[in-house]
Amino acid sequence: MLLEVRDLHVEFRTRDGVAKAVNGVSYGVDAGETLAVLGESGSGKSVTAQAVMGILDTPPGRITGGQILFQGKDLLKLKEGERRRVRGAQLAMIFQDALSSLNPVLPVGDQLGEMFVVHRGMSKKDARAKAVELMDRVRIPAARERVRQYPHQFSGGMRQRIMIAMALALEPALIIADEPTTALDVTVQAQVMDLLAELQREYRMGLILITHDLGVVADVADRIAVMYAGRIVEQAPVRDIYKTPAHPYTRGLLESIPRLDAKGRELYAIKGLPPNLMDIPPGCAFHPRCPMARDVCRTDAPALHQVADHRVSACHFWRECLDA
Ligand SMILES: Nc1ncnc2c1ncn2[C@@H]1O[C@H](COP(=O)(O)OP(=O)(O)OP(=O)(O)O)[C@@H](O)[C@H]1O
Ligand code: SF4
Ligand SMILES: [Mg+2]
Repeated sequence: MLLEVRDLHVEFRTRDGVAKAVNGVSYGVDAGETLAVLGESGSGKSVTAQAVMGILDTPPGRITGGQILFQGKDLLKLKEGERRRVRGAQLAMIFQDALSSLNPVLPVGDQLGEMFVVHRGMSKKDARAKAVELMDRVRIPAARERVRQYPHQFSGGMRQRIMIAMALALEPALIIADEPTTALDVTVQAQVMDLLAELQREYRMGLILITHDLGVVADVADRIAVMYAGRIVEQAPVRDIYKTPAHPYTRGLLESIPRLDAKGRELYAIKGLPPNLMDIPPGCAFHPRCPMARDVCRTDAPALHQVADHRVSACHFWRECLDA
């Protein structure tokens, strides 16, 4: 495995109390593979990614347990300098909002070029040429001219391509993309996602794709991890999860996708709200919202059961889910 997160725990200590944001997450991704991470707002998707990237807001955030193995080394045990080297060269992240990640008063070519000046010791002239090459690579038209323009002179979709170019610049082994297309128009979303998927295959990178959008996932991901209240409740290859979800929460998410072929049909939405992370329900955290909940769910937390090859589910009644 390129990256293996094992039993990760993260909490936020605030004046109001302790929010248990990540409660024993384990997931992994190989070179050339895409893992999609799904779940409602507040389920711990971004916090897990921030812990991997070493950009957790500390304090109030704190990693209270677990390991983050990258190319076999536990990033949490590395000295700060070594960790920064790995992070700078081997890991890259793409955020939802390109405008706030780019420097507004610096031409995009300078920002791209800076990666090569700082990390590869290139001259400014060579770095500029590399910037143009990268902008071509992410299919920004007239890259040679536009390399001198500022972020606000690009559309949202083009800015997100620039973010992808920045992430690719040093040819990292792993990219984490956190809702990379959420801020874009629907048609542009698909183009940017296709580009990211294509480059990921070409460079044989590992990709962790955090998203709300189950529609996107089917086309680009190899595996899906579904998170709820800081835990993974189901993990499986994409095909299996769409065909037979092994957890009621996953089924709820799948049934919430608008379908073009079911015009007029009422959309199923999971009732209720995600739990307060300072007061997670006992037993199965999903029980107050689960249509299948029984007494045991209110008292006993389900372990992650191996339900098939490469498939796990944290539901007492996973067999019934598969048979449904
Ligand atoms: N800086 C912070 N200070 C305090 N609590 C935080 C902070 N960042 C995250 N949290 C807590 O961690 C929880 C999980 O946050 P996270 O950003 O991982 O959610 P998410 O799954 O990425 O949701 P979204 O889909 O909205 O991006 C939050 O609900 C909040 O309780
Ligand atoms: S363990 Fe119980 S409450 Fe939790 S998802 Fe399964 S059936 Fe629902
Ligand atoms: Mg998030």
